This record gives sequence, structure tokens and C-alpha cells, in this order.
Amino acid sequence: MKLVLAPLAGFTDAPFRQMCFEGGADMAYTEMVSAAGLAHGSSPTRHLMETLPGEGKLACQIFGSRVSDVAYAAKIATETGRFRELNLNAGCPMPKVTREGAGAKLIENPRLIAQLLKAMTDNTDLPVTLKTRLGPHPGRTNVFEIAEEAARAGAAGIIVHARYTSQMHGGPVHLEKLSELVRRSPLPVTGNGSVTNAAELSAMSQCAVDAVMIGRAALAKPSLFSELKGAPPEKASAAEMCERHLGHILSFREQLARRYPLDHVPSADGFSSVKMHTHLFRYFNGRPGAAALRARLSTVRTLAEIREIIENEKSVD
Ligand SMILES: Cc1cc2nc3c(=O)[nH]c(=O)nc-3n(C[C@H](O)[C@H](O)[C@H](O)COP(=O)(O)O)c2cc1C
Repeated sequence: MKLVLAPLAGFTDAPFRQMCFEGGADMAYTEMVSAAGLAHGSSPTRHLMETLPGEGKLACQIFGSRVSDVAYAAKIATETGRFRELNLNAGCPMPKVTREGAGAKLIENPRLIAQLLKAMTDNTDLPVTLKTRLGPHPGRTNVFEIAEEAARAGAAGIIVHARYTSQMHGGPVHLEKLSELVRRSPLPVTGNGSVTNAAELSAMSQCAVDAVMIGRAALAKPSLFSELKGAPPEKASAAEMCERHLGHILSFREQLARRYPLDHVPSADGFSSVKMHTHLFRYFNGRPGAAALRARLSTVRTLAEIREIIENEKSVD
């Protein structure tokens, strides 16, 4: 089964994607990139489309609700030459996204989804896919209609987080609806939602999906992809994984500083503290002393401190 890394805003930046490619991911998605941000020339938004040289097959995910912005974003993302697919986000339930009519708000308006997808396909030669949910709430499962509209707009596939918007990121994953969609959809379907182990992967595979997308379970464990494909468990210790991850973060910072000399790219201390903070404690979660380490991590401000923590943890391994 093809296993792909989900877009996770704040997490699936180039360094973490690189960890996941090394850990067996067949493909990965960028964090969601704001079409309005690109249209306004925002530098941080552009940085989200940066990639590291060793990354594998990548898709750029775009969110927005204005046809002109999304058309522009598709053009810009294509021009980078870095992506093999473009994806429209019609599933994010966070208020900062839905407030502007984007993300999961679009589920209520399949016609607008079709217009946005059409704007993308008209402005790229890359395949365009849609990432969405089953519907707004269990009383309205309109993903079948959305898949039809997406196909008519020229989309090449649909990724479905098998939950409703009202569920946010918790509660049951509705595999029976996913199976029904696979039977009814004119487009290839990628399944998504709380796959964390072989049994859950097997259950989702039985829906006859084309691929399975994994998000949160990869955060503490970028080697999950290989392991789910039958490879032996990752031999590297948590500290060694952190060290490798830190290496990718530092390469990425250098690349950003080189490519964007006029932008304020934070120092190695600032950049690595912010980027590592979100990941470090996950690698060490569940170990003895994890709570104390977590407290310590929240005060880390320098690269030297991060290296010291990693060295300390290595001596425990
Ligand atoms: C912290 C976080 C950030 C997310 N960011 C995005 C995003 O940028 N774009 C998107 O389509 N979905 C986003 N999602 C949803 C995930 O891609 C995925 O659909 C969801 O987490 C279910 O998959 P999982 O159970 O394997 O994590 C996010 C979810 C979380 C928890």
C-alpha cells in the first residue's frame, strides 16, 4: 500500500518531511499554504513552499476561498518546479481558516470547491487533488457529491479524512463511509484518519483505497512508514533521531537564509529552538524523566542547549 505523509500545519516542514522520506514515506504534502498570503507576497508563506534537496515526491497544499488567489497560488507553486501534485484543502476545521470561507467551510459548498479546483487545473500542468472530509456533520454525508464535482472540475484524486467537520480531529473514523465512497467515486481515493499501526492500516486498506495518508502517528515516529511496510523497527535511538532531525533543520535554515537574503531568517539558535521544540519532546515521550525533559524543553533558547539535551539522552540510551 502506498503510504503518504499528511499535511500538518506547524509540523510537516521540509526537515520533518525529510525524516519521513528516510522513514519510508512514499509521498508527502507541505503544510497548508495560504493562497491569500501568496497573493499578498507574504515571505513566511513562501517559505512554506521551500523544500530540501533530498526530499521525495511532494505535493503542495493550498488553502483559500477566492478563485483568483487560488489560481495565482497554483501558478506560483507550479513555477517553483518542486512539486508533483497540487492539493486543495477543503477539510481544515480551524477557525482561522474557516473564518475566511476556506478549509472545511468549503464542504458546505461543493460548487465552490469545483470552481477552486478548476482555477487550479487551469493554472498548472500538475495533477490537482482535493483533501476533504465526509461532510459537515453525521447528518449530512456529502462527500459523494463533492467527489463528483471534483471529477468534473478536472481533479485527479480525492483524499478523505474519514471524519466529519463536527468531529474536528477526534471520535470514530467511519470506514464504512470510506468504502462506500471508493465504490461510488469517479476518482481514486486516498484514505486518512487515525492510522497508527498495522491493524488500523489493514482495516483502512480493506476499504480498497488507492493509498493511505498518515499524520499524527508519524510525529513521534517518522520510521512508521517503513515499519508498516514490514521493515524491522528503527534501530536508531530517540536521541539519534533527534540529532538527525536537528541536522535537517540546520541545513534548511541555511538554505532559507541563502535564498531569501532580504528576509529576516532567525539565527541558528532561534530557528532550531522553535523548530525542535515541537518535535523533541515527542521523540522522548514515554521515557523515564520525560516530564522533566518537557519542562526543560520549554525554556530552551540555544542550539548548544538542544545539543546538550540530545547528548544527555544519548547517555541514557
Ligand atoms: C496539528 C495538525 C495540523 C494539521 N494541518 C493540516 C493542514 O495543514 N492541512 C490539512 O489538510 N490537514 C491538516 N491537518 C489534518 C491532517 O492532515 C489529517 O487529516 C488528520 O490529522 C487525520 O489524520 P491522522 O489521524 O493520521 O493524524 C492537521 C491536523 C493536525 C492535528
